[in-house]
Amino acid sequence: MAKMEVKTSLLDDMIGVGDMVLLEPLNEDSFINNLKKRFDHNEVYTYIGSVVISINPYRSLPIYTPEKVEEYRNRNFYELSPHIFALSDEAYRSLRDQDKDQCILITGESGAGKTEASKLVMSYVAAVCGKGAEVNQVKEQLLQSNPVLEAFGNAKTVRNDNSSRFGKYMDIEFDFKGDPLGGVISNYLLEKSRVVKQPRGERNFHIFYQILSGASEEFLCKLKLERDFSRYNYLGLDSAKVNGVDDASNFRTVRNAMQIVGFMDHETQSVFEVVAAVLKLGNIEFKPESRANGLDESKIKDKNELKEICELTGIDQSVLERAFSFRTVEAKQEKVSTTLNVAQAYYARDALAKNLYSRLFSWLVTRINESIKAQTKVRKKVMGVLDIYGFEIFENADNSFEQFIINYCNEKLQQIFIELTLKEEQEEYIREGIEWTNIEYFNNAIICDLIENNQTGILAMLDEECLRPGTVTDDTFLEKLNQVCATHQHFESRMSKCSRFLNDTSLPHSCFRIQHYAGKVMYQVEGFVDKNNDLLYRDLSQAMWKANHSLIKALFPEGNPAKINLKRPPTAGSQFKASVATLMKNLQTKNPNYIRCIKPNDKKAAHIFNDALVCHQIRYLGLLENVRVRRAGYAFRQAYEPCLERYKMLCKQTWPHWRGPARAGVEVLFDELGIPEEEFSFGRSKIFIRNPRTLFKLEDLRKQRLEDLATLIEKIYRGWKCRTRFLLMKKSQVVIASWARRYAQQKRYQKIKSSAIIVQSYIRGWKARKLLRELKHLKRCNEAVTIIAAYWHGTQVRREYRKFFRANAGRKIYEFTLQRLMQKYFLEMKKKMPSLSPIDKNWPARPYLFLDSTHKELKRIFHLWRCKKYRDQFTDQQKLIYEEKLEASELFKDKKALYPASVGQPFQGAYLEISENPKYKKLKDAVDEKIIIAEVVNKINRANGKATSRIFLLTKNNVLLADQKNGTIKSEVPLGDVTKVSMSSQNDGFFAVHLKEGSEAATKGDFLLSSDHLIEMATKLYRTTLSQTKQKLNIEISDEFLVQFKQDKVCVKFIQGSQKNGNIPTCKRKNNRLLEVAVP
Ligand SMILES: Nc1ncnc2c1ncn2[C@@H]1O[C@H](COP(=O)(O)OP(=O)(O)O)[C@@H](O)[C@H]1O
Ligand SMILES: [Mg+2]
Repeated sequence: MAKMEVKTSLLDDMIGVGDMVLLEPLNEDSFINNLKKRFDHNEVYTYIGSVVISINPYRSLPIYTPEKVEEYRNRNFYELSPHIFALSDEAYRSLRDQDKDQCILITGESGAGKTEASKLVMSYVAAVCGKGAEVNQVKEQLLQSNPVLEAFGNAKTVRNDNSSRFGKYMDIEFDFKGDPLGGVISNYLLEKSRVVKQPRGERNFHIFYQILSGASEEFLCKLKLERDFSRYNYLGLDSAKVNGVDDASNFRTVRNAMQIVGFMDHETQSVFEVVAAVLKLGNIEFKPESRANGLDESKIKDKNELKEICELTGIDQSVLERAFSFRTVEAKQEKVSTTLNVAQAYYARDALAKNLYSRLFSWLVTRINESIKAQTKVRKKVMGVLDIYGFEIFENADNSFEQFIINYCNEKLQQIFIELTLKEEQEEYIREGIEWTNIEYFNNAIICDLIENNQTGILAMLDEECLRPGTVTDDTFLEKLNQVCATHQHFESRMSKCSRFLNDTSLPHSCFRIQHYAGKVMYQVEGFVDKNNDLLYRDLSQAMWKANHSLIKALFPEGNPAKINLKRPPTAGSQFKASVATLMKNLQTKNPNYIRCIKPNDKKAAHIFNDALVCHQIRYLGLLENVRVRRAGYAFRQAYEPCLERYKMLCKQTWPHWRGPARAGVEVLFDELGIPEEEFSFGRSKIFIRNPRTLFKLEDLRKQRLEDLATLIEKIYRGWKCRTRFLLMKKSQVVIASWARRYAQQKRYQKIKSSAIIVQSYIRGWKARKLLRELKHLKRCNEAVTIIAAYWHGTQVRREYRKFFRANAGRKIYEFTLQRLMQKYFLEMKKKMPSLSPIDKNWPARPYLFLDSTHKELKRIFHLWRCKKYRDQFTDQQKLIYEEKLEASELFKDKKALYPASVGQPFQGAYLEISENPKYKKLKDAVDEKIIIAEVVNKINRANGKATSRIFLLTKNNVLLADQKNGTIKSEVPLGDVTKVSMSSQNDGFFAVHLKEGSEAATKGDFLLSSDHLIEMATKLYRTTLSQTKQKLNIEISDEFLVQFKQDKVCVKFIQGSQKNGNIPTCKRKNNRLLEVAVP
């Protein structure tokens, strides 16, 4: 499992030893070798107990990743391999959990990695402390203050491309939960001389280069700057570009950081205007000008630059110009103006530039503090991170006032380290009565005293010299030093050496040397007085105050004439001394955590480990002594009360309360836990634990026990919770049960009630039905009685009255009834009479069966009556026609198929008007009788069946056939000679007229004729014959009859023929005896 592979001790996979305390044998060589071995294996961190030694790797190592942060988070200090994160975690946790303010002291030479270390600490703390939008903003602001301050306060030096040129102490403030609330930054003495002059191979502050490379053309134009570095006297040219540093992109980073920290746009603008003004100040040059009175005067060579500065800063040009040429001294209400010579003018110019810049820097720090300061007034826990400029030694006696100050500061830090670790530790052992063998170490208090002693210290001397009336130079200051400090062991000068009969020609006349804890440093005395004075002519500060530029005005409050202060401002040295003293006091109240940075080489190169250089640093840092003290001493100590309080839960006797002195309690506790005796000692007020491992064991036991206790509390709480819950549930259950029972009973009762009602209703129904049955029976009995009684009475009555009815009453009643019925019948018939039309078949229905025959008779009578009535309307003419029609009907109805068509045709008789037509005159004359029929007929030739037209005439006595063309009579037959007329039953007009055998006409044979009006002709022939001869003419209807032709008899046969000739019947002679007529 991955968890198993996690390191649990710094002893795992150790290269060399991770903790110098464990080094065997312990001497300088083994110490350095151990460091070197680890350095070669990329292990740049090593412990001395809780102190972290850090060697600058000069290249980025993959040991600062978020994963690493997680790895070190909440782990014991000695669990993992040494790391700056382990120290940060330890400090953060004891701040958060034990409520101890912390400070992290980072010391080391310039370029040893202090600033980087401080940033790593801050980023680790930022990564592990609380989260959330508000907290993140605070963190971001705290972290982003770094790039801003670095841009303005760092510069490239020969030792370090990003050397901090100011001291920085930052307090990060946390709330009780360990969430960051804000911070306070203190800055110490910016190396402002760098603004106007840089040593060889070094650069001015980064910001100047960043503006020129990174600002847009437009912005540069606004600031009246040019991109070319060489245009500016204040920018050292020999190393304007630094390898691996992108000034342009850094400029963007800085602007962005300023925005995040909370700088307003106008503020940023003002800041860059001041920076531009400083840069341009360097370009102002002066030339000498002699005046008549012999005084030296100076004049600005080219006023263009001055003009631009004034435009930038809103200063009246003439005011500034005057401030560069005159100096006003005020003494006792007297104002004296003196002119400045060229050197003085340059001095004034540079002083102004330096002051402007260093005040701007202080303003920046104040402004950042305003942004990052904690917003609440709740009690805060504080973690201080001190990153102060490192010990500095320049070769060739280039060390000046700044180095002196820097080194003094380092001296003080060493002092506090010694005090807190070495001396304090040993003293504590003695105080506590612990057996202790003293360890020799170098205490640098004596050097601190040499510098800061209020009477005889170098700084006091310098101040005295500065304030002294009369001519004061750096040499007079050195003289004074020689007098006062000559006998001091750590002070050397040519003079003091001489006086001690030593001869050291390496020491120039204008120098003095101090043997610092970290080595001998030769200081060039030149400039000490001026720098300490830090003088800015009042004319200049007043000129600045008059600027129409709010930032510049604010930077020079002493320029306000209303606030003129004749007292000298405190010197730079005394100011610094005071602030260092405050710092030391501040640090002493906090729990210190040390990071001792070591520089492996002078070349800023990776992988190079210079033994001599490292050895030197180890020596002056007193690391070996540090190890010795650690080894001799105890890793951990704590007063008895808090110790007992912390671990009392580990033992039955002390838990939960120990009654008695705390020390006895701790003794019992340790005894109980079985900690070996050599692992601890009892001091007067504290317990001392020798080995960290013992402490961790205690801590682990405590953690385990706390977990058990937590479980116990949880158990009891859960039990209580469950019990109360159970009781509550039980109570509720009773309530619910009672309600449920009540409900169930209610339901049961209702069911029983409704069942009872049903049973009851059935019983009631049954009873009612029984009663009903009885009542009905009673009623029927009563009725029966009544009926029987009625019948009985009826019988009685009828028996009584029979004698009165028997004779005629029945008949009378019957007749009367009949009469009434008849009356009713006739009256109703009267109403329902049908119409008078003889063909109307309607007749009302019969009402009574017994009237059947009457009804039929009545119908017959009525019909006869209405027929008579109808006939009575006819004239004689009409009567005749109807008689004829009636005759035709009697003769042919249902016998001849031709008949029905003839009914609707009126009989006309004379179809041919003989009398009218002249061609028939002869015929008319021949027949003088009345003509009954005159019509054209076809005479069928008996030989071949062909037809010829003949006129057929019927008179009262004769039948005549005449030629149709001329009316010549062809045959004349008296009616008495006509014996029979034959015709078919079919729909044809053929007929034969049979003649009496032996008569005159009969010689030619019978006539076979065809006519369109056969029925009429036959009827009329019949009637005429009847009236003339009183004999009925025989009319034979048959489809086969014989016709007399001369002597032969020919059979005329009618057959159903084809419709070849349309509707006309055709006649054909078949043989001698057969004439066939085909009827369609
Ligand atoms: N832990 C580190 N890892 C990688 N490089 C480092 C580390 N510490 C320092 N350096 C390198 O050394 C240079 C100088 O470090 P810095 O912290 O500025 O020194 P100091 O502040 O002590 O003067 C840095 O610019 C960086 O290049
Ligand atoms: Mg630094």
